[in-house]
Amino acid sequence: MRKKLVAGNWKMHGSLAENAVLLEALKPALAGIEAVVCVPFPYLAQVQAVLGGSSIAWGAQNLSEQTKGAFTGEVSASMLVDFGCRYVIVGHSERRSLYGESDELVASKYVVAQAAGLTPILCVGESLDERESGVTEAVVARQLDAVIKVAGVESLAQAVVAYEPVWAIGTGKTASPEQAQAVHAFIRGKIATLNSKVADQLVIQYGGSVKAANAAELMAQPDIDGGLIGGASLVADEFVAICRAAAK
Ligand code: 13P
Repeated sequence: MRKKLVAGNWKMHGSLAENAVLLEALKPALAGIEAVVCVPFPYLAQVQAVLGGSSIAWGAQNLSEQTKGAFTGEVSASMLVDFGCRYVIVGHSERRSLYGESDELVASKYVVAQAAGLTPILCVGESLDERESGVTEAVVARQLDAVIKVAGVESLAQAVVAYEPVWAIGTGKTASPEQAQAVHAFIRGKIATLNSKVADQLVIQYGGSVKAANAAELMAQPDIDGGLIGGASLVADEFVAICRAAAK
């Protein structure tokens, strides 16, 4: 059976003081439950110190597609490994839309992450315009194909996919469980045409306005294997309730 995995994406939120309160609340409440927090780069040392030895893993929200060199302002995969990261988000829609990350760049980041031993959380998802024009599946397929083309379908055995409809992110407008399930099933079915074993074991998270109040019905869908949580991951009680709903 596939495991369920919930990851928090803190985005550009937090401070040393706020993080300390949040992490100290999460640690006992999530004891024995596998979960992930993806934090801003400067706080990786803090989460490593606080979460080391707990059931909560940590990661970053982005990385460079380069391995080292004169790339001012960039952070490499090996640097993330130095701080104990196991995961890194690649291709978040905010990176794609606000920072111009192309499917090809996202694929390069996915490859360097895996080469360093990190598990990429590959985000895919359509905008509202794309959904309304009926091209949701074509967009998600294109985003997946860019990665499969350079890394191969087998690489997904060491990855997580997060389906995040852009119109549901930070809007309070969650995809209905049926809408989300339909796209998750499409993703799994598409991968199954290439490798059914990989498809069967692939963790596909849903992201977009997941809260404690809607987590259980989303997690009950057969192809939803956890969540990628933005705003609610900053609130200990909310994040804990979502992780528990997934673990049930
Ligand atoms: P929200 O949960 O705030 O909608 O954000 C979702 C997201 O973008 C997680 O990566």
